[in-house]
Amino acid sequence: MASPIIAPSILASDYARFGEEARRAEQAGGDWLHVDIMDGHFVPNITFGPEIAAALKRSTNLPLDVHLMIERPDLYVEKFVKAGASRITVHIEAHHPAQETIRQIRESGCLAGVALNPATGCSAIEHLLGEVDLVLCMTVVPGFGGQAFIPEVLEKVRHLARHPARQQRRYYIEVDGGIQVETAVACARAGADAFVAGTSLFGAKDISRAVADLRQAIQRGSEQAG
Ligand code: DX5
Ligand code: ZN
Repeated sequence: MASPIIAPSILASDYARFGEEARRAEQAGGDWLHVDIMDGHFVPNITFGPEIAAALKRSTNLPLDVHLMIERPDLYVEKFVKAGASRITVHIEAHHPAQETIRQIRESGCLAGVALNPATGCSAIEHLLGEVDLVLCMTVVPGFGGQAFIPEVLEKVRHLARHPARQQRRYYIEVDGGIQVETAVACARAGADAFVAGTSLFGAKDISRAVADLRQAIQRGSEQAG
């Protein structure tokens, strides 16, 4: 596996010190900064918008991995591109057709991802595998940090990792929700190569140590992958 990605999720950070928290994730060895956008409709929680994403961009050199949990991502793509997003991921369950939004993202020069909720099967996104840079498998029901990992999602990770479409286009397989040392091992073993972690990193006493431990766990899991 190419070197795995660790994406600390700013959702679990101290909102009174956003800029510093982004820098803390960078100094700790994170690869991307995961930014969760929630609109109170697609999920029962509200987070932040493009202006905050732009402020995060000014605070860190980490690429912004923007995860849109909103019903109409198509209306906001341009704003997040302007804010400095490196990649933008939209949900297949959102109201606007994901394929159109993905094309819109790519035409604007950004990398594009498609996300699927734990209850959504891979068949829903199969037709998109040839045009995405990333597939995000939610390993919790989206909306809140700090939830327990849903192990049933591992089957989807395995399926996506072995899918013939991956020979043509090497999309990342990102897991998001309840990721810590043990669950990361299982995900890496199943073939995931991008790992979002909020609570287990920002909630740790020593975030650098936590990133290093997670990386080691992922390494261990990927060596056992088959
Ligand atoms: C949940 C978000 C996640 C969240 C993960 O809806 O998409 O990115 O930050 O948080 P933890 O790692 O605390 O489960
Ligand atoms: Zn997320």
